[in-house]
Amino acid sequence: MPEIEQRKKDHLDITTSGQAGYAKTSGFERFDFIHNALPEVDYDEISCETRFLNRWFSFPLFISSMTGGHHEATPLNAIIAAFCEAYILPFGVGSQRAMLEDPSLLKSFSIVREEAPSAFIASNIGGTQLIGGLEKEKVSALVDTIRADAIIVHLNPLQELRQKNGDRNFSGVREGIRKLVSEVEIPVIVKETGAGLSQNVIEQLIDCGVAAVDIAGAGGTSWGRVENIRNASSEDHFTDDWGIPTSECLLAARDLAGGKCEIIASGGIRHSSEIAKSLCMGAVMAATAQPVIRAVKQEGYEGLEKLYKQWEADFKTIMCLLGCERPTELDMIHLRRVSLR
Ligand SMILES: Cc1cc2nc3c(=O)[nH]c(=O)nc-3n(C[C@H](O)[C@H](O)[C@H](O)COP(=O)(O)O)c2cc1C
Repeated sequence: MPEIEQRKKDHLDITTSGQAGYAKTSGFERFDFIHNALPEVDYDEISCETRFLNRWFSFPLFISSMTGGHHEATPLNAIIAAFCEAYILPFGVGSQRAMLEDPSLLKSFSIVREEAPSAFIASNIGGTQLIGGLEKEKVSALVDTIRADAIIVHLNPLQELRQKNGDRNFSGVREGIRKLVSEVEIPVIVKETGAGLSQNVIEQLIDCGVAAVDIAGAGGTSWGRVENIRNASSEDHFTDDWGIPTSECLLAARDLAGGKCEIIASGGIRHSSEIAKSLCMGAVMAATAQPVIRAVKQEGYEGLEKLYKQWEADFKTIMCLLGCERPTELDMIHLRRVSLR
């Protein structure tokens, strides 16, 4: 199996094994909801509908970029795509870099549009691929394969540095993003992969004109740890817990974005309370990766549906207990900081 395909397969196996989490938390536990004993809302009237990048979705949850680029990904992507089509949720495919190098892997991506003809689907490419500008034909290939509604650029210097043959040059990524934004007609979203976007980085991305940032902070899947598990001989584990906690990234983004770009919160979203706290802290959407791929691997479409229905029901309960009928009503006024000893 070619190296890139083997790597993708390893990532899937390790992240779903339960060994790849951060020791540090996303920080959401430092905030508690302020209970409203007089909610004055009718539970049955609560709507979870959310507007993001000028499209309506049934629930504020983005299915994060994960698979593609290896043959095992095809059935997994088919299930997630069919689910997103049925439940009107946005979905990002995994990195399409392998597909650009080996067109035989195209099917693992094109299946997504076959299964989800009308869903919001985002392409995915690494920031390092943009250094010097990504050729026009490659940009077209990324977008056309899945008729993408947006392009996601992932920033993952931690993961690349921990990979044996990972990229080492990150100089020029920012200008590559700026160029991509100016060349494509669909929105460009920039995400981390779990180590978080700092305030300074978000500021630079806003200056590049990106439509949205996914802060993808620490507290969920640790790519430092994943690559260390793959590289069994490595004794150097100082990056296993490297990254900015999700809630900290989110509060920094909230201070900056002010309508200039939309915010997605991800990195350790494992319960609907974290989706609700994310929205209180300024995100329009939360996003999740590991719980989705684990549910699909274990129980297929039904597993994903079970997870989603639980999160949706719990989210509505939270909204009701905060006295909110719409996700846009969620705000910092619904949270209080708790001191942890
Ligand atoms: C199996 C797997 C593969 C992933 N592959 C990609 C990828 O190709 N591109 C990307 O932008 N992020 C990728 N990610 C990162 C996720 O999109 C997400 O940012 C990260 O896992 C943190 O979210 P989580 O804590 O909910 O897992 C992957 C995650 C998983 C679990």
